[in-house]
Order: sequence, then structure tokens, then C-alpha cells
Amino acid sequence: MTQEDVFKKLVAHCKEYGFVFPSSEIYDGLGAVYDYGQNGVELKNNIKRYWWDAMTMLHENVVGIDAAIFMHPTTWKASGHVDAFNDPLIDNRDSKKRYRADVLIEDLLAKYDEKIDKEVQKAAKRFGDNFDEQQFRSTNARVLEHQAKRDEIHNRFVKALNDNDLAELKAIIMDYDIVDPISGTKNWTDVRQFNLMFSTEMGSTADGSMKIYLRPETAQGIFVNYLNVQKTGRMKVPFGIAQIGKAFRNEIVARQFIFRMREFEQMEMQFFVRPGDEMKWFEYWKAWRLRWHKALGLGDHKYRYHDHDKLAHYANAATDIEFEMPFGFKEVEGIHSRTDFDLSSHEKYSGKNIKYFDPELNQSYTPYVIETSIGVDRMFLSIMSAAYCEEQLEGGDSRVVLKLPPVLAPVKVAIMPLVKKDGLPEKAREIMNQLKFDFKCVYDEKDSIGKRYRRQDAVGTPFCVTIDHDTLTDGCVTIRHRDTMQQERVKIEDLHAMIDREVNMKNLFKKLMD
Ligand code: GAP
Repeated sequence: MTQEDVFKKLVAHCKEYGFVFPSSEIYDGLGAVYDYGQNGVELKNNIKRYWWDAMTMLHENVVGIDAAIFMHPTTWKASGHVDAFNDPLIDNRDSKKRYRADVLIEDLLAKYDEKIDKEVQKAAKRFGDNFDEQQFRSTNARVLEHQAKRDEIHNRFVKALNDNDLAELKAIIMDYDIVDPISGTKNWTDVRQFNLMFSTEMGSTADGSMKIYLRPETAQGIFVNYLNVQKTGRMKVPFGIAQIGKAFRNEIVARQFIFRMREFEQMEMQFFVRPGDEMKWFEYWKAWRLRWHKALGLGDHKYRYHDHDKLAHYANAATDIEFEMPFGFKEVEGIHSRTDFDLSSHEKYSGKNIKYFDPELNQSYTPYVIETSIGVDRMFLSIMSAAYCEEQLEGGDSRVVLKLPPVLAPVKVAIMPLVKKDGLPEKAREIMNQLKFDFKCVYDEKDSIGKRYRRQDAVGTPFCVTIDHDTLTDGCVTIRHRDTMQQERVKIEDLHAMIDREVNMKNLFKKLMD
């Protein structure tokens, strides 16, 4: 099965099992907008809690806020979004489809990476244990040829981006024969800039109404409140402010399911530091955020850093944490050193003094900012991609199982009486009533036990607890583990501790702080 097939199956699975639905589906959906179903919302809430608690409970100097989506329009002038929050777009005259010019070129670069990786894999197979990858990469003629071509394109691309040279972006597309994947032609228009912010009107009269924007990032709500929080919370630099909330971008190309949406959710933290300390803190947060991801146990090899080719208008350093999705390594989180750009700009546009007085230095200054910014929906997609498994079982049977980290699983325990009679449902309810205050439980008495197990596997429930006739006399139940499918007999009074060990986020947090 190709990765593309796996991805299609994952999208279908998300819909079939109540994780993600197309928005307003009865009207044929709305491009790049999605709704989360009964299981999706639980997984999403667990992701948010993992982030929120890790930020605000494990760091004494990080607190949270919840700012409004609508902000004074000057905010977006000051932040640079009105003038510079653009993507370069290009149309193909034959297919009438619209693309991001930079993404077309990035896809070409990724093709060269794939070619090189294929050569390396082939050689690794041929040479076995004696294979020296580094030597192969630096001496093999075909690899060197691909690498030289890649570097040539990459250098032109980076220069074009940094110079904002739209004509050069088009020239790269033409020179390297990038064709429209649908029409297969190079009948491209010129590259144009397109602002990604959605706008609307606030106020009831035509004269008195004001053009306002739906925020394209949550960060600005933090910047304009930083001094409110600092003063009322008696915070001392360095300190951070965390926020989770919706953001909106009129993406030119909305592809790959919930990877690139027009309405999505961000988890952002702005960390305010003394000028000059920013690189130290940039490195700190870069490392800490990767640890947070890896602690979920989805596989360390699925993550990598990627330094930005073009820095955003506000940054002096930026790295992405990328995750290996079914369609390649893709950005899930950005860590940016935003300098004092935002605060200085808000000071200028608002005319208010928003400097911080540092009692230790006895001086006022505009703090520098390190930002960590992660999309909830992308995190959701990365977890679902890593968790989705199709397994062949003994006896020719097969199952689809979501091997979700137990702490994030939408449902932690399924309670199942073996039959719907003989007092087993009553006993099962009694057990559920003991567990439901700490764990999200479901009760299921319909169909055979085998079918019930499959249903729970498909939504990633880590534990199934079966109540049988012996339970009534020996006070024990059968607990079945999702990944190994192993079953064990345990005392009812031991159930809570057993489940808690696996699903309590506290244990993950302790691992994170080791
Ligand atoms: N405040 C900085 C900022 O917004 P960004 O790199 O544009 O930086 C941060 O976005 C994160 O938000 C990304 O790493 C990604 O996870 C998520 N994100 C951005 N655009 C998105 C979209 N259209 N759909 C889903 N998630 C998106």
C-alpha cells in the first residue's frame, strides 16, 4: 500500500469513527474547514491539555490568557500582517488551478531529496553491514549530480524569497520545467502576492463601521496584553504567556485534509526575555519543545528540525519541528526568535509606553521574545498518522487499530458485560461508576466480545474490561490491552491503579522533567 493510500484510508477512518467531518457536509462542505466529532473533540482536548499543563504547570514563570479573536485593526498594521502577510500565488491557465509558487518549488526540492534517498537505500541494501553512508553520499556520482542540482535550485529559491523577487520565482518554475500536476503544462501566469487575512465589518451603520480582521495568529493577543499580565501577575523577565485559540487564514491552496485549514487552532507561547539573552532561550525552547513531542512515544525518528530558508518579517532566527506525515516530513511547530519587533511596533502605533522596568538592572527596556507556536490540528494529524495501523492477525483475521498514546486516547476504558443478563450489566455499571470520575469510560453490551474489541481498537481505547459470570463470585474481571491484545485477570480493586499508571498525564510530565 502506498503512503497516499494510507492517507486516504486515514481520512476515511477519521470520518467513519467520529473524529473529523467535513464542515457543513450536507451542503457539500466548505473548502479547508472541518468539524471535530465525538472522538475527535476528546483527542483534541487531550492534546490541548497536554500542551497547556506542560506550559503553565511545569514552568513556574509561564501563565495563560484567553484573548478575543477580534482585535483593534491597528494591531495588524503594527504587526506587519496588513502589509506583509502574503503568499506568492500562481495560476495555471489550462487547469484554471491556483498554486503557491513557493510550494511548487519546495515540492521540486523534495523530489531531489527523494532521488538521493533512493540511491542511498539501494546502496545500503547492496553493501549490507559494510555500508558507509557518509562516504557514499560524498562520492557517488549520481548522488552528487542530484545534490548539485538541488543546491542550485535551492540557492536561487532562497535568494528570490529574501529579495521578494516574484519574477525570479516564476523564472525558477519555468527554468526547471515545473508543470501543473493536473494539466501537465507550463502555461503559468505571473506570480502575485495574496494577503491571507480574512476581514469583516464591525458596527451597524455603513459610515460608522470599521474593517476588522479575523486574527491570523493568536500571538498578537499576547503582545498587547503582556504588560497587563506582567503587572497584575507581578511577573519578572524572563516569563511567558501561553494561549490556545482559533486563527484564520485564507489559504490559497488548501490541501491534505486538516494539515492546511482556513480556520484552525493554535497553541502559542511568547517568552519575554532580556535583550541579548534571546539566543540562549531560543535554544532552550527548541530543545524543550522537541522533548515534549518525543515524550509521547510515537518514535523519535519521526521528528526533525528544519531551519527556515526565509525568516518572517519579525524574526532573527526560526526553526520548525517537522513530523513524518504520510506525505513526507512537514512542519508541526515553529520556534521563532521574534526580537522586540512586535512590542516596539505596538509601542509606536499605540503611542503608549509599554516598556518593562527591570528591578534587578534598575532600567526599562523592550523585552525580546521567543515564541513557540504549534497548530492543534496539525498535531492531531501527526498523532493520527502515527497511530493508524492495519494488522493481520492469526487465523486470517485483520484489524484496524489506533495505537494512540494512552494519555491522549479519547476513551480510556470500555466496560463490557459478557452477556446482557444474569446480573452482569448491573455489575458492569457498578464498576463503571467507580472508574468514570477519573477516566473517560464507555459502556458497551451490544454484539460479540470480538466485535466490541474491534470497535474499541478502531478508536484507540487502551483498555477493555470484561465482566463475566465468575466476576460475581471471584471479584475479578478480564482486562484486555489494545496493542498486544493480551488479556489478564485482575481484581476489581486493582483496576483503577492499573489504568491510572498508563493514562495519567502526570506520569508523562514526570518523564518530561527527568
Ligand atoms: N505566531 C506565529 C505563527 O503563526 P506559523 O508558522 O505561521 O507561525 C504556527 O504558524 C503553526 O500554526 C504552524 O506550525 C502550524 O502548526 C499551524 N498552522 C499554520 N497555518 C495553518 C493552517 N492553515 N492550518 C492548520 N495549521 C496551521
